[in-house]
Amino acid sequence: MNTLSLAACAVLAVFLIGQLVRRVIISRSGRNVTPENVKCIAPYPVQPIKGRERYRVMMDMRKLDMENWLTIDKYYMDEHRVRSKLLEKEKSKVLQCLPESYEGCMEMLEEVVEFLCRQFPNVFECRKHGNETTVYNRMTGETFVFGTDNDQIGPLEIAVRLTMEDLSVLMKNSDGEYYLAASASLFPVGWTVEERIGWTISKLHDPVPLWHQQVASSVSKFLGRLTPASPMERSNYFIEVRRPNEELLETLYRPNGLVEEGMDLSPRDIIIRRERQTFRRLPRSDTIAFGVKTFLTTLDELPLEELKNLEKEIKSWPDFVGEYKGKAVWGAKALEFCKERTKMLGCEKVEV
Ligand code: HEM
Repeated sequence: MNTLSLAACAVLAVFLIGQLVRRVIISRSGRNVTPENVKCIAPYPVQPIKGRERYRVMMDMRKLDMENWLTIDKYYMDEHRVRSKLLEKEKSKVLQCLPESYEGCMEMLEEVVEFLCRQFPNVFECRKHGNETTVYNRMTGETFVFGTDNDQIGPLEIAVRLTMEDLSVLMKNSDGEYYLAASASLFPVGWTVEERIGWTISKLHDPVPLWHQQVASSVSKFLGRLTPASPMERSNYFIEVRRPNEELLETLYRPNGLVEEGMDLSPRDIIIRRERQTFRRLPRSDTIAFGVKTFLTTLDELPLEELKNLEKEIKSWPDFVGEYKGKAVWGAKALEFCKERTKMLGCEKVEV
């Protein structure tokens, strides 16, 4: 190859890399999301399963990716239909606000509306007249007005009718402990806000094995020290099974827990349910805004590396942890699938 063709190749390579980088930037930038192309927007990348050798309850906090505090993706409309139905039929189970949380809920709504209109200007439009704000959602055709003397819908409800995230407001009680003062938890696992509103973070986690021994005091320190300038995020995963042909609402809204006994499971019925949890201190109300985005991946969609990591983690759980996580229902099938897939893909690699 002569110098000229080498130079041409280099220019082409630089051009192609540039195009690739541009594409990644465009696909991640909310500014390019429109009601028409939202069906093509991939979800925010979830944290991969790490494959820890020893089980521990972890805080595993990282700095919040503030540009993506709230996210919009191709599942927006499907999940929005589920959220609307739950708010219509099961409102008291999924939404509760104690009276003292009003200021925090209003500040949360203002933050949500400001964020969505700034990050997704082709989707959400916001107008202000004095104290009154109108927000228009071009995807659903809905309009919400707030800041008037007779608001029709409460602030937290408006906020979760706009977002894909569940939202809660945490406040400090007279003992200095944080508690759930308001919550719109439409996609809960094994609980409802109707029964747990007002509970402290510590009491909420009573059923979680090793919570009090391993993490309770770090969590309470973390919440106390959170400032408006230090927003954080963490991830969690659960394993869930679904019945064949189950509706999305039943998969996402799990007030009675994750597991169903006595089913003949296929890998498509075993779901890795991941949550991205965000924590922001709201400066005016001095409350904490807690957000939870739920992502569903079936076992057969997991990349090989993560499947191996999942297998490693499941095997590391002590029996009482496995019991809490419902391993008796899905464990044998999931481990069998991990083993077969690893063997199959391992062999393919050798053949190539
Ligand atoms: C630093 C913060 C937090 C950490 C480290 C944390 C960690 C955890 C963990 C490890 C579990 C068990 C998941 C599993 O293994 O299946 C869990 C469950 C749960 N968390 Fe959190 N969490 C945090 C914040 C919160 C907050 C702010 C809420 C408020 C709504 C919350 C509500 C719950 C509930 C209701 C459960 C289910 C408990 C049950 O089984 O009944 N968590 N959390």
